Amino acid sequence: MSEIYAKIAGVGKYLPEKILDNAYFESIVDTSDEWITKRVGVKERRMSKPDEFSSDLGAKAARAALENAGMSAEDIELIILASVSPEMYTPSCSCMVQAKIGAKKAAAFDINAACSGFIFAASVANQFIKSGTYKNALVIGADTLTKITEYKDRATCVLFGDGAGAMVLTASGEKTGILGTVLGSDGASGNNLTCCGLKASAEDIERRPFSDNYRTIWMDGQAVFKFAVKTMESATQEVAEKAGVAIDEISLVIPHQANKRIIDGARRRLKLSEDRVFCNVEKYGNMSAACVPIALCEALEQGRVKEGEKLVIVGFGGGLTWGSALIEV
Ligand code: ACO
Repeated sequence: MSEIYAKIAGVGKYLPEKILDNAYFESIVDTSDEWITKRVGVKERRMSKPDEFSSDLGAKAARAALENAGMSAEDIELIILASVSPEMYTPSCSCMVQAKIGAKKAAAFDINAACSGFIFAASVANQFIKSGTYKNALVIGADTLTKITEYKDRATCVLFGDGAGAMVLTASGEKTGILGTVLGSDGASGNNLTCCGLKASAEDIERRPFSDNYRTIWMDGQAVFKFAVKTMESATQEVAEKAGVAIDEISLVIPHQANKRIIDGARRRLKLSEDRVFCNVEKYGNMSAACVPIALCEALEQGRVKEGEKLVIVGFGGGLTWGSALIEV
């Protein structure tokens, strides 16, 4: 029996309308457009409405991906949604999306691997397709980080935005689609990036002096920065090696969009020219699990990768976690 591959059938995205520009942050914390542009590279990010949550964004991105794939929700057998900001503990965000789009035949579950979440979700969906269990899977990254951001903390509030991206994977008998994946975690360094749930330790409380809302993101920016540059380089190299593809054969690297300096640092280590690394961080900021699928969607919309060409998606984030996938479009 010939090997089965998971190929991209369609992609979609959704971004809330409301824009927060750097002038807004100048009005609420001690910061400047110049500092944010130079140190982070972000100009604008999107903010969901108070009654708009990750499942709403995820469902809109999912509908767009299904339309792009020319499929209906009932064709989908599996939904995996990655998020660090689902609105409920249960039902899961993926089940809420399933209900919203009417994907009655799908099994649905969530994955939390922070900013690497979409790549973890795509990797799991790939395994289900390769094993022959399912033919069509919907993979979603949806986050509303503005709902878990402390707007008094200038070191984090300027970074985050909201959005959702989705991808439909379908089984193919040809060697195309996902050709390799790499996933990794370092739980022992997890304390470098936290957002409390049911528990807040004394350390978590001390780190958040701005309010008694401990369900906001805190991070050791410099530690995460160093980890991010290193893992973006190593995970890209590792997945290319695993798939038997030379770095020169990769048309485009699509990284998690946390900071322009992280992307540039890793790009230089990989010796890639600017046109071979996708960057839209200036428009949306860090949307955690939504960054990679939105960037993938925009890269394909813009024709940055053509049929038959290869790309790498690569991410890093809380956990700590990292992941990459090499995909032939
Ligand atoms: N405006 C002005 N000054 C600021 C701001 C701001 N918005 N934020 C921090 N500063 C100040 C600091 O207070 C500090 O001042 P001090 O020297 O007087 O103490 C100074 O700038 C330098 O601070 P650093 O933390 O050293 O700044 P750095 O250049 O490292 O940039 C940043 C901080 C942007 C957070 C960077 O470290 C970064 O991008 N880290 C990685 C973040 C990331 O990738 N996260 C991904 C995961 S997110 C997730 O999983 C949800």
